[in-house]
Amino acid sequence: MVQNMKITRKLFNMALLTRSFISGIFLSAFLISSSNHATALDLDVPYVESPDEIVEVMMNISDIGPTDYVIDLGTGDGRIVIAAGKRGAKGLGVDLDPELIAVAKANAEKEGVSDKINFVVQDLFDTNLSQATVITLFLNEEVNLKLRSTLLKLKPGTRIVSHNFNMGDWKPDRYQQVLINSNGNFFIHDVFYWEIPPII
Ligand SMILES: C[S@@+](CC[C@H](N)C(=O)[O-])C[C@H]1O[C@@H](n2cnc3c(N)ncnc32)[C@H](O)[C@@H]1O
Repeated sequence: MVQNMKITRKLFNMALLTRSFISGIFLSAFLISSSNHATALDLDVPYVESPDEIVEVMMNISDIGPTDYVIDLGTGDGRIVIAAGKRGAKGLGVDLDPELIAVAKANAEKEGVSDKINFVVQDLFDTNLSQATVITLFLNEEVNLKLRSTLLKLKPGTRIVSHNFNMGDWKPDRYQQVLINSNGNFFIHDVFYWEIPPII
């Protein structure tokens, strides 16, 4: 009897080990394929979504409305520029990832804003920003700093909103901290807002 129990436990442990091994193989394959996807695209920043509450704060802090043309650099699933479209703004979202651009287009269609918002597969550094009244970002500080000199040449009054990342010593005109509850874990997010100053 004891002998049988020992054998059963041994078999059970072996089954568990095999299951972890197989899961490990699948997880590694997934991670390798996602990172290969990201490397193949040569992304400056990986894909991470802005929580809906943050998107709302970005809309409010920059007072986005029907007269705006919003350009979202690194648009992901398009949620920021789609939220702008729902406030009546026109806009453009760019991303290097064609799969995300396809998702963003489908989302815009679902939300009824595809007549106002365009999405293109394009490098954010090659994007013509001259038409924008608002530029939205969720990138990183290094990319923000690379963009800074281009942004500072835009029309005075153009508004820039960035989730979590600032622009070095270019002090924001507005700033808001937001506490987000993600499945019981609390995270502080920052939203920064700048206006291109008048030419003196
Ligand atoms: C942190 S995610 C932000 C996604 C979305 N804006 C949001 O807030 O939910 C950054 C996005 O930038 C895109 N990206 C990274 N480097 C890029 C580049 N050089 N040109 C265009 N898009 C880029 C990534 O594919 C990713 O979707």
